[in-house]
Amino acid sequence: MSEISLHEAIFTGRAVRHLSRAPVARADLEYLVEAATMAPSAGNLQMWSFVVVTDPVQMSRMAETHREVGRRYIRDGVLADPNTDAERRRIYTGAMQNVEHLDQAGALLVACLTLPCPDDASVASGLFGSIYPSVQNILLAARARGLGAVLITLATDYSPIGPEKTEAIRDILELPRGVVAVALIPVGHPERPFGRPRRDPWQKSLHWERWSGSQPAAIADLDDGEHSS
Ligand SMILES: Cc1cc2nc3c(=O)[nH]c(=O)nc-3n(C[C@H](O)[C@H](O)[C@H](O)COP(=O)(O)O)c2cc1C
Repeated sequence: MSEISLHEAIFTGRAVRHLSRAPVARADLEYLVEAATMAPSAGNLQMWSFVVVTDPVQMSRMAETHREVGRRYIRDGVLADPNTDAERRRIYTGAMQNVEHLDQAGALLVACLTLPCPDDASVASGLFGSIYPSVQNILLAARARGLGAVLITLATDYSPIGPEKTEAIRDILELPRGVVAVALIPVGHPERPFGRPRRDPWQKSLHWERWSGSQPAAIADLDDGEHSS
């Protein structure tokens, strides 16, 4: 098996949402989970578990829940809002592919935290900071194996809205109390080419020795709001 370089995986690893129905080899799925567990975690507590779903019945139940949540949140919310700008509209239109076709992936991986997450941001930061590196390892390992993947939080336990008419994904997966589903990652054989992610120039995010330039726009907007109230 010839694998690409880490550089290529990082620089061509954009979100892949168009996946073929072809199954993903069990060995590849196990490799993704093994790669996930190589990630750092706070105190090396390894507070993660990964549920791999390939059973068509389970996948279709999960897709149904994700569809219900996605239609309400994205189609009827973000995309129906005339104030949604063109770039956000482009991204969320892409996300509708998952909303309508999640079960076309070869497999669905669900990254779970196995420690309860409190509201205290200083503690929560360590917990989320211990699961997302493992998710990024899954995305990179998938790219290395020529598999497409995307990180989804919609319809997880940290979704901005939950299902009203369908089962929660945590119930479909029979997660025990205290275990929470943080990220949902469809994985499959890509139907579209990999490519460099579209990003602002990296120079915009770099400061040498100390902060230079103006306040980030989003924070400046918040300050303006405070002054006007
Ligand atoms: C925390 C987080 C949550 C995300 N949730 C979703 C989601 O619910 N649905 C989806 O299709 N993409 C989701 N994404 C993927 C982003 O839309 C994607 O990373 C971003 O648009 C950049 O895409 P690109 O790497 O292809 O440029 C999420 C990404 C992150 C980091």
